[in-house]
Amino acid sequence: MIFEESVALVKKELEAVEVALQENFMSDVVMIPQISKHLSEGGGKRIRPLLLLTSSKLCGYNNGNRHINVCCVVEFIHSATLLHDDVLDDAAIRRGKAAANVKWGNEASVLVGDYLFSKSFQLVAKDNDFKILDSVSEASRRLIEGEVLQLTQRKSIITTEEEYFDMVKRKTAALMASSCQAGAILGKAPEKVEQALFMYGEKIGIAFQLIDDLLDYISDDEKLGKPARNDLKEGHVTLPLIRAYECSDAGEKEFIDQLLGAEELAREDTTRILDLMEKYDVISYAMGKAREYVQQGKKEIAELPPSVYLDSLNAIADYIVENRVELCLKNPTY
Ligand code: FPP
Ligand code: MG
Repeated sequence: MIFEESVALVKKELEAVEVALQENFMSDVVMIPQISKHLSEGGGKRIRPLLLLTSSKLCGYNNGNRHINVCCVVEFIHSATLLHDDVLDDAAIRRGKAAANVKWGNEASVLVGDYLFSKSFQLVAKDNDFKILDSVSEASRRLIEGEVLQLTQRKSIITTEEEYFDMVKRKTAALMASSCQAGAILGKAPEKVEQALFMYGEKIGIAFQLIDDLLDYISDDEKLGKPARNDLKEGHVTLPLIRAYECSDAGEKEFIDQLLGAEELAREDTTRILDLMEKYDVISYAMGKAREYVQQGKKEIAELPPSVYLDSLNAIADYIVENRVELCLKNPTY
């Protein structure tokens, strides 16, 4: 199965999610739907709803609309984090459009992020299932921990791969894991299946962020729909830079040290970093790591009974690494 078929399999439900998202960000305070609509219309792959819907169907959920409501919960948490993240990262573009912080300012972005975050908990209250509440609140707690860890690792080239993966597991993988787990809870799956889906979501979530961090170096603004090379500018020490530093000689290490301490980043500095990444085969290394996590994710669900939804989860796992890299590179050779 390919990713497009995964999407087609839950097309009707994904359309219902779009309608429910629009309904749920309504407010008579006009700036709230304005900013939410701007972000929502930028597209977004709706990966979390896709994971939740597919997991719920895999576990046999088919009697009601709770899955649509819970999709809004995870998508609103995700949207809230994006609004906050673009303020923290001083990012100018999101989903191919001006980021909300550029169009409306930091204050408005933070507040509408708060609104969507609060709304998500109102929706989960409406769903009235403590297991789902526990799952999404745990994911929220962990993604904030991840973001705080990222802050403490800022400009710190002594960050290890292990510390990086721990940060990514919280920042990005926690909500993907929770999306899969929520689907299992909706389908009243046995504990073992719920745990397998959670672990699948966590592993592919790590791969997702790793590819995001790789593409930040090797893609461009247009293909990404957000600013490329922003991580270096913001001092985020991600796997490609950690690996390049690890392989570098003393002189190259000194150059990277100085770069992270500098106020401004010159074009030739970025070029030299990219040259180092090329020299030390960092792209293949990062791709290898991402593929390992995808394999681990697939292994977590390998024992589940065969079904079209299981095939779909495997296709989503492949999409996260292979197709995203293909889509975001002009000449994908990795
Ligand atoms: C994107 O990372 C950011 C996240 C996955 C998490 C952001 C979380 C917060 C800002 C915590 C507080 C927010 C709330 C509402 C609980 P990235 O910057 O690497 O990705 P990008 O390239 O898409 O910007
Ligand atoms: Mg960001």
